[in-house]
Amino acid sequence: MQPLVTPFHHKPTGTWTYVIVDPQTTTAAIIDPVLDYDWRSGRTGTASADQVVAHCNATGAKVQWILETHAHADHLTAAQHLRRELGGQVAIGRGVLQVQQTFKKIFGLGAEFAADGTDFDRLLVDGEGLPLGEQSVRVISVPGHTSDSVAYLVGDALFVGDTVFMPDSGTARCDFPGGNAAQLYRSVRHLYELPATTRVFVCHDYPPGGREARCETTIAEQRASNAHLRDGITEEAYVQMRKSRDATLDVPNLILPSVQVNMRAGKLPPADADGVSYLRVPVNVIGRPL
Ligand SMILES: [Fe+2]
Repeated sequence: MQPLVTPFHHKPTGTWTYVIVDPQTTTAAIIDPVLDYDWRSGRTGTASADQVVAHCNATGAKVQWILETHAHADHLTAAQHLRRELGGQVAIGRGVLQVQQTFKKIFGLGAEFAADGTDFDRLLVDGEGLPLGEQSVRVISVPGHTSDSVAYLVGDALFVGDTVFMPDSGTARCDFPGGNAAQLYRSVRHLYELPATTRVFVCHDYPPGGREARCETTIAEQRASNAHLRDGITEEAYVQMRKSRDATLDVPNLILPSVQVNMRAGKLPPADADGVSYLRVPVNVIGRPL
């Protein structure tokens, strides 16, 4: 019995959120939920995440896990909102410890941010299996885009996070702190060893040429036609392509708020004495000089 997969598209950030259900028990996991965020005003919202809540309530899905593929740099996670509404444990790869330590320095944070992983309910390691009713979610460590990146395999469904995108869009950038193009190449080749018919669900789609946003492909399609990393592309050629391409990319719009919130499992920074939570902007630290 294969898991049921329902995708949700968050258009402002091009993110795909998934609800995975074991059909035998209706036990469910949610992968990469999105909190709405308006950078102009600094306001958060739950309208998008509430569609996931409504779906789970309408179908009787019993949420056991809220899984992050990594600490995202392009959207804020709604993990804490979903946890309050639906229950479940918030989990991410153990590599988030490195992300927390790196960005604690970048954001100049002090003792108020422990950077010890305790904001999450579970830190996951390569190869472990999370129970999901009659099924199991296998954790596959896929560093490269970030040091904490993991993929999740449930039955024949593989959730790849930001490793590969849809075949016409290639692969994820590797120039964030902790990123490494050679590592991403090896992580993707490792995923390509899975059966050719494995369904591949991507975390983002930024559709080129005006096509509709899509979220599902297969290992066979990726190996045959991924624009950056298909069969026959060597590690050297990939790393060279990735580095030169990354050198031209702008910093993501939401990297500063996203990382500060996502490395805390979706919690806002502790409020100041006035009761307001503030995000920090390190000046002349991130990105290339103007
Ligand atoms: Fe990402």
